[in-house]
Amino acid sequence: MSTRTPWWIRVPVLFFLIFGLMEYFIDSGDKPAIIEYPITQLFMLLILMILIAIELILGSIENVMFQTLTEEGKEKYLATKSKKYEWTWAKNLMEKLTRSRSVEREEEIILDHNYDGIRELDNVLPPWWVYLFYGTIIFSVVYLVRFHVIGDYTQKEEYEQEVAAAKIAIEEYKKTAKDLVDASTVEFLSDAADLSAGEKIYTTNCVACHMADGGGGIGPNLTDEYWILGGGIKNVFTTISEGGRDGKGMIAWKQSLKPAEIAQVASYVLTLSEKTPANPKAPEGEIWVDPNVPESTEPESGQ
Ligand code: HEC
Repeated sequence: MSTRTPWWIRVPVLFFLIFGLMEYFIDSGDKPAIIEYPITQLFMLLILMILIAIELILGSIENVMFQTLTEEGKEKYLATKSKKYEWTWAKNLMEKLTRSRSVEREEEIILDHNYDGIRELDNVLPPWWVYLFYGTIIFSVVYLVRFHVIGDYTQKEEYEQEVAAAKIAIEEYKKTAKDLVDASTVEFLSDAADLSAGEKIYTTNCVACHMADGGGGIGPNLTDEYWILGGGIKNVFTTISEGGRDGKGMIAWKQSLKPAEIAQVASYVLTLSEKTPANPKAPEGEIWVDPNVPESTEPESGQ
């Protein structure tokens, strides 16, 4: 019943092995399974208890078997047991890698010649250093063949791959970080949640001058197709963010609204065209035609 590894190594190693396997096999998205599914915490607790129980059972079996031994057997057993656990293989490896002649035995390797009192010791190079050196030689051969002879992989390619991957990552990031929108990237937000958030911002900040139904007052009518500063989501975003013409009263809202909020309120402003205001202000500016829409789809050119 002699086991080489002590229990305080065996139990944690098995525990984390099972933990690792569990995390590997349970698909839990970005979060670790132990957080995503609380039941797994119970499972791991159970595993821990089973491991401890097994150790206890093994311990008592060992004890029972010990009692059945003869006196001589008991002594032998205790002797092997009292040997301290050692990392024998690691110790051996360490000795091999740092092998050198001890100072006391240096006489054995001293060379015959003597240059004005300077003598030479023929010691071995430290093996760890020699193996490292061999490693660099092997590496250089592989490197030479791959990068200069076959050329299947170059630094230029690596650079290009990384730039391409970074571009994709930036796109992904922009999708999640809504506050990164600006006038050139903003899109009309058709989401009901965005539009109702936009409506809230509009009710708090804008009705004083544009009216709740967008009919206009101090500010122009936002429901008609005439725009002073240009229609469409990108122009409206710019107007709200940068403000109107000097002295007209429309301030730059980028001071108090976040880019994502401006995108929401801009989208809401565009939906105001569905409303029929009670007291519409006379149109100002010009009819705005989206230059990005192909001509054939414009109502004017249709039959
Ligand atoms: C103090 C009054 C005032 C407030 C508050 C105000 N605006 Fe204006 N708004 C104006 C005026 C005046 C103009 C016309 C600017 C010009 O002629 O350059 C304008 C222009 C606009 C335009 C451009 C209309 C066009 O025809 O091009 C949009 C869009 C707009 N406002 C949206 C908003 C939004 C959204 C808010 C709230 C976040 C808001 N405004 C708050 C006064 C106001």
